[in-house]
Amino acid sequence: MERVEVSAPGKLMLFGEHAVVYGRPCIVTAVDHRMRVAVEIADGDNLELYAPDVDVVGYVERMNNLGGKEAPKGTRFVSVAVRNFFNSFGIKSGLKIETRSDFSSEFGFGSSSAVTVGVIKALSEVFEKPLDNKKIFNLSYNTILDVQGVGSGFDVAAAIWGGTIYFVTGGKKIEPLAVSELPLVVGYTGVKADTPTLVRQVANFYEENKGLVGKIFDSVGDITKESRKALLKGDYKRLGKLMDENQVLLEKLRIGSPELSNLILAARKGGAYGAKLSGAGGGDCMIAFVPKDSAKLVEKTIEEKGGKIINVRTGARGVRLED
Ligand code: PMV
Repeated sequence: MERVEVSAPGKLMLFGEHAVVYGRPCIVTAVDHRMRVAVEIADGDNLELYAPDVDVVGYVERMNNLGGKEAPKGTRFVSVAVRNFFNSFGIKSGLKIETRSDFSSEFGFGSSSAVTVGVIKALSEVFEKPLDNKKIFNLSYNTILDVQGVGSGFDVAAAIWGGTIYFVTGGKKIEPLAVSELPLVVGYTGVKADTPTLVRQVANFYEENKGLVGKIFDSVGDITKESRKALLKGDYKRLGKLMDENQVLLEKLRIGSPELSNLILAARKGGAYGAKLSGAGGGDCMIAFVPKDSAKLVEKTIEEKGGKIINVRTGARGVRLED
């Protein structure tokens, strides 16, 4: 095949962010906003990249110089994914790659992991090197670590498997949960968070006070385990309570923000079962479990506080070939 197109979903962290970096479990759901990646074999020895969502149009890089530090930020995940794939299989070829996203990279929906997974999957199809999910995971996760230095890989797993997943760092455990679509409301604060910075901030706090922060991680881990059970039972009321408890602990980790608190309080006021930030914190999105008949009111109260409602469906399908 000379050209293929694939798509991979974005994600939302439901429970367990940050603690997952320290070996505790988390729960993530894939959302129906997808990243699309088209890969085409080209003559010559260059990678030509079109990623208009991140202002990269017609960027050309030599294959023997992929992932150089001087490359624009928006090209790194693609270049390093190509490099890692080619090195694994001893492939040399020119390529043209185009990426296009259904969602803004500002939301924190995991555009880096979705694009990385999309590139690895598309390359495996174009060069006819069949890879199972675990092999796609390993290549993609190593790419994320090469570019970003930190991360549990939960977002990579969501992009590959889709659905709703109970996850332990580095893919030590990837358990797809048999749950239906979740009654979630998602509010964007309008503030872009930088995940590696927040992960480092929590790491510094942990270094300063291992006892206290370690206990917070343990409690987050316990909440995540409880949430897994509640999810399997479809007990959204309980899940709301667990979200509120998780949020208290995230604030103790000092990754809350006034904008997040405003929207979370608004959601509770509007009748949500419970609400919390989702992801690294400091900005990006908050999420709330809501009774069906309160969803509209919750959305309205969030908007009144300056949040932008993002319509998502949870449990979206994992990476797949497009016709
Ligand atoms: O900012 P996001 O949505 O990519 O979430 C980061 C979640 C962390 O647990 C803080 C980091 C990680 O890789 O697990």
